[in-house]
Amino acid sequence: MMHYLALAFGLFFFGGIMGAELRAQDDLLVSGEDLAQALCGSCHAIGATQRSPHPVAPAFRDLQYRMDFARLEEQLRQGLVASHPEMPVFVLRDHEAVALVRYLRSLQN
Ligand code: HEC
Repeated sequence: MMHYLALAFGLFFFGGIMGAELRAQDDLLVSGEDLAQALCGSCHAIGATQRSPHPVAPAFRDLQYRMDFARLEEQLRQGLVASHPEMPVFVLRDHEAVALVRYLRSLQN
């Protein structure tokens, strides 16, 4: 009997640790720059100076001329579909969409 209790407690405790670890990873993902780099960087220029790896993809610092950022944030939550078929559909969690769009806004000069 004690055995099972100890086992149950151990699992509960271990589960708590695992949960904390997953949350820590979520916090890391919240960096908008990391998200942009990981999801979009293969085509779009991320920083202040580089050129986009993809010749047609606009550099993120130039988006201000064509973007409604509030709408983009909404689209990232629901699945962003660009006019260009090469662009994959992304569905981000709320806090990721917020972080990514905040980063994109910060790039505009
Ligand atoms: C596989 C390449 C690729 C990836 C990855 C990619 N894009 Fe694009 N994106 C493009 C191309 C190409 C265009 C140009 C589309 C056009 O003008 O027809 C584009 C256009 C855009 C536009 C302008 C939209 C418009 O309608 O003019 C935005 C905003 C955008 N991308 C955001 C993102 C974001 C945010 C990510 C990451 C979450 C991302 N893209 C990932 C290729 C990509």
